[in-house]
Amino acid sequence: MFVVVGVSGGVAAYKSVHLVRLLILAGHEVHVIPTQDALRFVGLSTWESISRNPVTTSVHDDVAQVRHVALGRAADLVIVAPATANTLARMAAGLADNLLGTTLLATSAPVVVAPAMHTEMWLHPATQHNMATLRGRGVHVVGPGDGPLTGGDSGPGRMSEPEEILEAALAAVPGDADLAGLQVVVSAGGTREPIDPVRFLGNRSSGRQGVEVALAAARRGARVSLVAAHVDAQVLAEASRHPRVQITHAGTAMELRDAVVAAAVDADVIVMVAAVADYRVLKIADDKMSKQGQEGLTLDLIQNPDILAALVRERRPGRTIVGFAAESATGDELIEKGRAKRRRKGVDLLAVNEIGWDKGFETPDNELLILNASDDVVARVQGSKRDVANALWDAVVAVRDHTHPEKHSL
Ligand code: CTP
Repeated sequence: MFVVVGVSGGVAAYKSVHLVRLLILAGHEVHVIPTQDALRFVGLSTWESISRNPVTTSVHDDVAQVRHVALGRAADLVIVAPATANTLARMAAGLADNLLGTTLLATSAPVVVAPAMHTEMWLHPATQHNMATLRGRGVHVVGPGDGPLTGGDSGPGRMSEPEEILEAALAAVPGDADLAGLQVVVSAGGTREPIDPVRFLGNRSSGRQGVEVALAAARRGARVSLVAAHVDAQVLAEASRHPRVQITHAGTAMELRDAVVAAAVDADVIVMVAAVADYRVLKIADDKMSKQGQEGLTLDLIQNPDILAALVRERRPGRTIVGFAAESATGDELIEKGRAKRRRKGVDLLAVNEIGWDKGFETPDNELLILNASDDVVARVQGSKRDVANALWDAVVAVRDHTHPEKHSL
């Protein structure tokens, strides 16, 4: 899981070092966001070395990566420990003048807070009112415990122990990160086959479905290598913000093949969503072609290699390979065309997409069916491209559970 740990300025910050360590040992990716005050208690280098990730407190660092919202968007879970009276008040008010504040506003992940303060501050009506507000918004609260506090006093206000916070935090996350530990390769977008320095043969793929497949895998815990052919810039920007998604660019079918083969070395799952051109131009002109003196134009094309079929031929045991098929057909004919293609390609799963002039392209929604290696229709999905992506991963998980349960890191 991608876990953000917010640390505010209280002496209990030292206990959060252990919390981060426990998360790392459990295999989670952890990003720590201390407040400026927190750094008076535990320094930046400690957080960086223990979390193995860069740490910053400012919304003005790393602006190009829109870090002030990127961590919140990527998070599967946000823990604030210790949560001081001040930080809880700021959360209740929705203040966003530091990185922790912007992250908390940008996230849709479960948020767990572990309050830590003196008893009087905890019991003060202002704090209690803020806690009620936060609970009302679905924030999970762990503790505080009752016991000795730093001033020699004793009472409610002591931050819960890291093990307890960890347990409560994990319990707050719906479902599992069921692809955690898997290395995944996804190709997306349409290849462009050059004719001359300014023209190409291309297709209408926007890359959105492929990017959603990549993002869904990353959100479910996988490490994703996204090989992007031509993908709309806005669509690709979304993927580039996810820290578990690594993007490689490929222009032509041949470049895409090389990039996918290189990325596939450690892959547990490969999903070829890219719309790969079947043909490339035999002789690409060195200079821009002119129409002068030419009534018509004939281009000699040569077939591109079938990347998917080659991946299946050269696969190592334990690898799951998924294809996408775009077909101009409906009903039974669509299923039969899909089955024939699945057999030709030899893939474990084939997502079959009905396409037409007004179907399948440049739309936020998609509709497809998924065939397994026995040619059964295991799912029919209609919905947003994100829903479709998740249904596809459900099918992948089912195949992996069935064929090699020992390899699946649930
Ligand atoms: N594909 C590939 N290499 C190619 C062509 C396609 O890897 N040269 C992959 C696509 O990424 C997709 C699947 O194969 O996952 C099916 O693509 P599609 O274009 O539907 O099939 P084709 O192989 O082109 O078959 P046909 O021309 O018979 O429709």
